[in-house]
Amino acid sequence: MTSTGIGETVVVLGATGQQGGAVAAALRADGRTVRAVVRDPSGSRARALAATGVETVRGDLGDPGSLRAAFSGAHGVFSVQPNSGQPDAGVGDEDEVRFGTTVADAAVRSGVAHLVYSSALTAGAVTGVAHLDTKHRIEAHVRSLDIAGTVIRPATFMEILLSPGTGLGKGQLSFLTRPERAMQFIAVRDIGRIAAAVFGSPDRYAGRTMEIAGDALTGEALAEHLTRAAGRPIGYRRLPGRDGVLGRLAALVDDGRLAGNADLGALRAEFPFLLSFDQWLKGPGAGPLVQALRPTGA
Ligand SMILES: NC(=O)c1ccc[n+]([C@@H]2O[C@H](COP(=O)([O-])OP(=O)(O)OC[C@H]3O[C@@H](n4cnc5c(N)ncnc54)[C@H](OP(=O)(O)O)[C@@H]3O)[C@@H](O)[C@H]2O)c1
Repeated sequence: MTSTGIGETVVVLGATGQQGGAVAAALRADGRTVRAVVRDPSGSRARALAATGVETVRGDLGDPGSLRAAFSGAHGVFSVQPNSGQPDAGVGDEDEVRFGTTVADAAVRSGVAHLVYSSALTAGAVTGVAHLDTKHRIEAHVRSLDIAGTVIRPATFMEILLSPGTGLGKGQLSFLTRPERAMQFIAVRDIGRIAAAVFGSPDRYAGRTMEIAGDALTGEALAEHLTRAAGRPIGYRRLPGRDGVLGRLAALVDDGRLAGNADLGALRAEFPFLLSFDQWLKGPGAGPLVQALRPTGA
């Protein structure tokens, strides 16, 4: 397999969402032809994609025929599934696994040359947390197929630190890690850029599984960076409660599996554009930080 030609189409799943949106943007910036599978081509996010030169086709992860049609004639497919761990996503763990395996099967049946699957850094082994182990199962399926596959395992998104549940609007970041325990993070923008680089050099990346991250920070360091960026004090505390899903996720941070073990120096040498948390806060994170700092009124 040689490098993907500029004219060869890459199909992107989830392009109206975070990762797929970043992948579509990075591929377009590289001058590539991008086709996005969307549930509603007339929706505002699909129309915004189309305005950037992305071809949008109707399709659904639950409809294998629509995926095979969308993948027809494409060189590559970027596969990402909605998060079965989000209660409001309406997607169960078995749905996520079915979606992920269906995409891979459809790619094989459509003669796609290169499948890039976006997993998560915990997927190397079974964790016992069902919505994380979905990705272990999808990865195993991808590897069992006769297709050149690359698995990227993103660390925790920097974006998640600004979500309403972390409490920044009250001047304090609450997150999973202990104050002194480092955890790795990646900017969603960089997931897109790495995926585009992978599609650009299939010979180099086919068969590889890569943990990807742009920075590693303790809870205290996160608060220091946020304090500087916000221009006012931001404290840090570990999310309370050792029971339930949050407690199990925190335990996975403690034992390293959700903290991340990517070699940041090697990654930065390979992908020089990778953003540190500071750089992200001054760049793509600047606007969202202003929003996140607004008082929640509680
Ligand atoms: N948050 C983290 O720190 C982190 C770290 C590593 C990995 N992950 C993983 O990242 C994944 C989520 O990625 P994301 O944040 O980019 O997702 P996202 O922003 O929530 O977007 C989900 C995308 O999936 C599309 N979609 C949902 N159901 C669909 C269906 N039935 N058919 C076709 N498309 C469908 C949505 O399209 P519509 O516009 O039609 O809704 C949307 O484009 C999860 O698997 C999560 O576990 C997260």
